[in-house]
Amino acid sequence: MTTAIVGLGNIGSRLATGLVEGGESVLLAGRDLPGTKELAGRLGERATAVSVDEAVDRADVLILAVWFETIKELIAQYGDRLSGTIVVDPSNPIAPDGKGGFTKIIPAGESSGQIIAGLLPPGARPVKAFGTLMAESLITAANRTPRRAVGFYATDDTGAGETVARLISAAGFDPLSVGGIDQSLRIEVFGDLHEGTLGTVPTADEARGLL
Ligand SMILES: NC(=O)c1ccc[n+]([C@@H]2O[C@H](COP(=O)([O-])OP(=O)(O)OC[C@H]3O[C@@H](n4cnc5c(N)ncnc54)[C@H](OP(=O)(O)O)[C@@H]3O)[C@@H](O)[C@H]2O)c1
Repeated sequence: MTTAIVGLGNIGSRLATGLVEGGESVLLAGRDLPGTKELAGRLGERATAVSVDEAVDRADVLILAVWFETIKELIAQYGDRLSGTIVVDPSNPIAPDGKGGFTKIIPAGESSGQIIAGLLPPGARPVKAFGTLMAESLITAANRTPRRAVGFYATDDTGAGETVARLISAAGFDPLSVGGIDQSLRIEVFGDLHEGTLGTVPTADEARGLL
């Protein structure tokens, strides 16, 4: 199984680190090829820098670690090549509010998970995951004892969910399904299971109690 991460900013670079440290191999695709190669070099032989085009072609699991609007652009550009691909969406649909905080850029009751899933072509396999924690927590809360259950995910595709659950586990967390993609709202920013709302990264047992 080939896993690719598109976008190597706060989330993508930490996720790449966590997955490689957990024994996974990853393709890394950023806009900045020298920077991507430098990151791949630091992570070692399990990480390979590729173009976005190559990542789309080779990935069984494509993690789109870019902003919500960029995900929409990537789907517009590459969507017809994503049939059969597990597409992981960690996005939180927010933008700076000009007052030092963030504001939601889609209607309050809507989730980026459902919007992105709706934009993907038939046959693509959307999973909402890896967006429930602050980027730093992807490293600082990983592989703790007891294990932290940052690994909330939402999908309508059981097989895709199991595959992503394995990646969540490799990244150092206990995976926990919150249900179908219509439950994405709960694990996105301002949702009741998001780290920003909880103010903490729950243990697996605590997280189960919240479901
Ligand atoms: N930061 C968090 O704590 C956090 C937590 C949960 C979820 N999220 C979500 O995770 C996603 C990524 O957030 P982030 O904080 O990692 O953002 P970020 O640090 O700004 O990183 C985004 C990356 O995407 C790259 N990029 C932009 N357009 C691209 C394209 N067309 N092809 C390939 N790469 C492209 C950017 O490259 P350039 O450097 O060239 O612009 C940048 O490296 C967002 O949807 C966000 O809502 C973030």
